[in-house]
Amino acid sequence: MKEKILITGGTGYIGSHTAVELIDAGYEVEILDNLYNSKAGVLERIEEITGVKPNFHEVDLRDAEALAKVMAEGGFGTVMHFAGLKAVGESVEEPLRYYENNVGGTINLLECMQEYGVHKMVFSSSATVYGDPGEVRYTEEMPAGRELSSPYGRTKYFIEEMLKDAARSDADFRVTILRYFNPIGAHKSGLLGEDPNGRPNNLMPIIMKVVAGEIPELSIYGNDYETNDGTAVRDYIHVVDLARGHVAAMQKLDGGERVQIYNLGSGKGTSVLEMVKAFSEAAGVALPHKVVARRPGDLAEFYADPSKANAELGWHTEHTIEEMMQDTINYLRKSGVEV
Ligand code: NAD
Ligand code: UFG
Repeated sequence: MKEKILITGGTGYIGSHTAVELIDAGYEVEILDNLYNSKAGVLERIEEITGVKPNFHEVDLRDAEALAKVMAEGGFGTVMHFAGLKAVGESVEEPLRYYENNVGGTINLLECMQEYGVHKMVFSSSATVYGDPGEVRYTEEMPAGRELSSPYGRTKYFIEEMLKDAARSDADFRVTILRYFNPIGAHKSGLLGEDPNGRPNNLMPIIMKVVAGEIPELSIYGNDYETNDGTAVRDYIHVVDLARGHVAAMQKLDGGERVQIYNLGSGKGTSVLEMVKAFSEAAGVALPHKVVARRPGDLAEFYADPSKANAELGWHTEHTIEEMMQDTINYLRKSGVEV
């Protein structure tokens, strides 16, 4: 019998795809989420794909009592910790809410894990912790925490530091910090994808809203960067590749270093204009767009050096940008959008 995993934020975009991969790999999973940015219907979608409906706890991480109850009854071996707020712009306007939810929620979670003897965690961090390192290809050795562009990014960095301290103080604790680049795409079935509540901030969810007719056109933030075509370059990673990276990382937790850090990205950069072109080709329709001013805080170009994850986890990205677009379009169609 494989160990039982608690997935915080498991009805969310990345957590739900990871739940599917974990179930497919034979693990028993339970999901905890306050449904702030996701819907309970995701649980049935997971069941449709895997044949298993995970046990669900509608709990806020900041509610220590409710959390303790879940942990006391769960018998978990590992916690995969996705739950958090992630809107960069909103975090600038409401920084304390971000610290309270992301950092405060994680403190509760760690205390609870300690109390109930759960010693392993995989944490969702972000390439944003590298700040502006002055190089475009990020390796894990680069210093983190400098010149971070938002309170959101600082919550990720502070949590990383907290996790390192927790590991220093507890010889049994093992944590893997995964620094994601730009996750996009959807499950092949079209049953799971990115479906945030409220107004999206990221490129693909905005493109999806344009296609659905909810936003008239995509605003491209700047075409005067020093890149191939002047638009900003990012490392887009298919969400299923990212989810599989979590399974690989979790399987390496036992017996390794107390703290391990991996970039999860493809290692390839794609510009905003290339993304628009790829989407239009996959959908067979032109995507309305215009160029506007740069977005404050955006960097011109960055992508992952994923060689550490490739070598140590035996993990590689498998999906191309075209597949990311196809799967997004399939998800939109399955959700009733005409495209
Ligand atoms: P998401 O919003 O779809 O999922 C996060 C889930 O956490 C949501 O379902 C939300 O309801 C839940 N949640 C938030 N606060 C909670 C709380 N206090 N208690 C319980 N549940 C809570 O986001 P996602 O894209 O799946 O991201 C998952 C994680 O990965 C986040 O921590 C995010 O910061 C990180 N990350 C995401 C990206 C990205 O581009 N999507 C990039 C880097 C890192
Ligand atoms: N973009 C546009 N128009 C839009 C939205 C985005 O042109 O309407 C551009 C951005 O300028 C950027 C690219 O598309 O060049 C990607 O933007 P996203 O907002 O999708 O992603 P970011 O790279 O800005 O940020 C993402 C996550 C953050 C994370 C960061 C680093 O949203 O959480 O990657 O990992 F911190």
